[in-house]
Amino acid sequence: MIGDINADGAEKAAADIGDAASAVRFDATDQQSIQDLVAAVLDRHGRIDVIHNNAALVGPDAWFTDSTVIDTSVEMWDRAFATNVRSIFLMCKYALPHMVAAGGGSIVNMASVGGMRGSTGLTAYGTTKAAVIGLTRFIAAQHGKEGVRCNAIAPGVIRTQQLLDAVPDLPRQALAGVASPRVGEPSDIANMVLFLASDESAFVNGEVYRVDGGGMATS
Ligand SMILES: NC(=O)c1ccc[n+]([C@@H]2O[C@H](COP(=O)([O-])OP(=O)(O)OC[C@H]3O[C@@H](n4cnc5c(N)ncnc54)[C@H](O)[C@@H]3O)[C@@H](O)[C@H]2O)c1
Repeated sequence: MIGDINADGAEKAAADIGDAASAVRFDATDQQSIQDLVAAVLDRHGRIDVIHNNAALVGPDAWFTDSTVIDTSVEMWDRAFATNVRSIFLMCKYALPHMVAAGGGSIVNMASVGGMRGSTGLTAYGTTKAAVIGLTRFIAAQHGKEGVRCNAIAPGVIRTQQLLDAVPDLPRQALAGVASPRVGEPSDIANMVLFLASDESAFVNGEVYRVDGGGMATS
């Protein structure tokens, strides 16, 4: 089940996958909405095996108001934490009891290389992603013995549509920052999600995986 505040986008993604997939509108900043999403999954599938916590406050609106510690507004800071971190806390809070009761599962949280280092801007975003990495380890430590694994992915710059719309020159800029002959594609992230969701990663828990084309290795 695909949950997103963009209901049309979620419907399209589900249609692309096929009959097994469905879509539901949910707001990651709203506690009741998260509880409703968990209930909808249980209603349709009877269990929760995998959660991919992907939603985040990204895009031009966020970038232009999320800057240095001095210049970032308190409102932006709170919105970023509500969307990027509190949402994952709540999703796990309500879904984990069902995963534990069913014998386990896999949670994959989206962090960012921006959460693994400092920078001159995007303070709120980067700090939320560092918090996602911390929360990932707490969930792994608390529920690993019960069969629930929890890992995080830290992408570098990935050529998503929203990034291309905002920064048309992005592919050229991104290429300069990676130790790879090409820039990152959404499929690079999807493949890592698939690995961490599957039993192929059965002994991997509490870990954060960079998928950045060697970007951090070279900077
Ligand atoms: N694209 C990159 O270069 C990059 C780099 C590092 C990390 N990431 C992370 O990857 C994930 C996906 O980002 P993306 O680049 O594909 O952007 P995206 O905009 O395509 O995906 C983000 C999704 O979150 C949804 N969303 C936003 N606010 C929401 C809310 N309140 N409730 C429910 N859904 C909400 C959006 O509608 C959107 O579908 C994010 O966690 C992002 O931080 C992306």
